[in-house]
Amino acid sequence: MPAFKCYSLSMEERKQRYLVTSALPYANGPLHVGQIVGAYLPADAFVRYLRARGEDVVYVCGTDEHGVPITLTAEREGKAPQEVVDYWWKHIKETFESFEISFDNFSRTSTPLHAENTQLFYRKLKEGGYISEAESRQMYSPTEERFLPDRYVEGTCPVCGYKEARGDQCDNCGSWYEAYELIEPHSKVTGGPAEVRETTHLYLDLPKFSDRLKEYISGQKHWRTSVKNFILGIIESGLEKRPITRDIQWGVPVPEPGFEDKRFYVWFDACIGYVSSTMEWAKMIGEPDCWREYWQEPDTKLIHFIGKDNTVFHALVWPAQLMGVGEDEEEPFVLPNDVPANEFMNLEVIVDGERRAMQMSTSRNLAVWLHEALERFPADPLRFYLASTLPETGDVVFSWRDFQSRVNNDLIGTLGNYINRSLSFTEKYFDGEILRPNDFSEETSEVFTDFKALEARFEERMRAPRPRDALGELLAMGRRANRFFDAAAPWKARKEAPEKARADLYACCVLLGSIAYHMDPYVPGAVARLEKFFDGPIARVSDLDGMPESYRVTGAKPLFKRIEDPEVADAEEQLAKAATG
Ligand code: 2FM
Ligand code: ZN
Repeated sequence: MPAFKCYSLSMEERKQRYLVTSALPYANGPLHVGQIVGAYLPADAFVRYLRARGEDVVYVCGTDEHGVPITLTAEREGKAPQEVVDYWWKHIKETFESFEISFDNFSRTSTPLHAENTQLFYRKLKEGGYISEAESRQMYSPTEERFLPDRYVEGTCPVCGYKEARGDQCDNCGSWYEAYELIEPHSKVTGGPAEVRETTHLYLDLPKFSDRLKEYISGQKHWRTSVKNFILGIIESGLEKRPITRDIQWGVPVPEPGFEDKRFYVWFDACIGYVSSTMEWAKMIGEPDCWREYWQEPDTKLIHFIGKDNTVFHALVWPAQLMGVGEDEEEPFVLPNDVPANEFMNLEVIVDGERRAMQMSTSRNLAVWLHEALERFPADPLRFYLASTLPETGDVVFSWRDFQSRVNNDLIGTLGNYINRSLSFTEKYFDGEILRPNDFSEETSEVFTDFKALEARFEERMRAPRPRDALGELLAMGRRANRFFDAAAPWKARKEAPEKARADLYACCVLLGSIAYHMDPYVPGAVARLEKFFDGPIARVSDLDGMPESYRVTGAKPLFKRIEDPEVADAEEQLAKAATG
């Protein structure tokens, strides 16, 4: 991480404690750009921004290694689930590293520590009176001698007669039903018949939390209205007890007699993974108890970045779990301060010569896989484009053509170009060093004032947190700085009025420092490269109380490379093949 110089921040400003998390991805396949814009890039930009401001931030994640999707992958590939998750944990971790996602810890939920935590959460919820036992009817495969999770069952839809209806929902008519309502239900794995059997499960008593949840959610004035209204609607329509165990073999064991053949439901332990990851981080830094500060000091801001399909679990069930386990603790757990849930990303695909927006489909390989995108392009342009199209307010479309135009026009044309010409003028015409002028022109004072206003807007949007909107302010800074440079015309002024040209270039370096500061959350690699040849504070104009004595530039090179037509055509062709193949 680049070493930032924090200018004139008050202590309060510096030391807000944050625990930031990104949804734990399932360890059964590679990451795609839809996941990245939902939960990882916005969180990483936010975290980098906070760190640069001197805040106390811990950013944790890890893989979600339980659940039916993993056992299905394992069965399909003839492997043990552990083998599958070991492979994907490494793959996913390395992809995040290449994409410069700056987790403080990237853990996984198949660790003994996490199993212990999950069981502890369970025991505390039970002591609090929030767990009950009940019988339910589930599908059972006599040939496989096991209960079948919904995703393993197929049959004829009881509503429309569609033959390949799924265990819980019909893809043809959209009806929802219980798996035992299917006509001629059978196992998706063996094709053999499935029958209904009674089974016992443990339930989390959500209704007992209803009033507290309502009060908590209603009080979150700063939450996205989509998230807040969605959850309040669910509470309003009446909560039900939720089963937290499953008849499966892969998962955290249930510490109850009679439950030896069952495991906790993946969504019971998934969010506990955030706690386990923080504990692992605390051990790693040699202060095993300091995880408590982040989970139990009431002034911590706990922020969960997620895709919108995870909203119920993070904004309703998880807060209930936290409320329930905290009761007998001296220091109860904090509740999420925010759950910024993002919408979905579709893909622009060329089919029969036409550009169409299509839904991603990981099973059909119709996706932009992050590790493949990183083989084509560096992290910076990909991060920049994805940040400019984060689904903060509605669904968005990923398009390789837009990628090219945003990178070439905005990242390079506006920001890179400004940086380049300021650096090369300083280096070429002023021997790479510009001293602070005695006073500034009116135009310079104006541009500084405008920058301070833009910086304040950036701040507000980033804190929201809306990193995509904040990026809009960064581009406005780039345009404003270019206008200043054009008006100063140092290529002319250096002959006619060299002292004015020098003072203007000094101001350009100040603006450059601010642009770099605001660019860092999005393109950290570029800012790290810049620091090698730009010697001067990378800081906000608003934070420069006394202007630095000088700026120095040595051996400057362009920070970015243009995206060429054939590169885009090639990437588009790969997607088109996936769509038609
Ligand atoms: O939807 C998913 O990919 C889940 N694995 C997210 C889990 S988030 C958290 F609870 F761990
Ligand atoms: Zn149907």
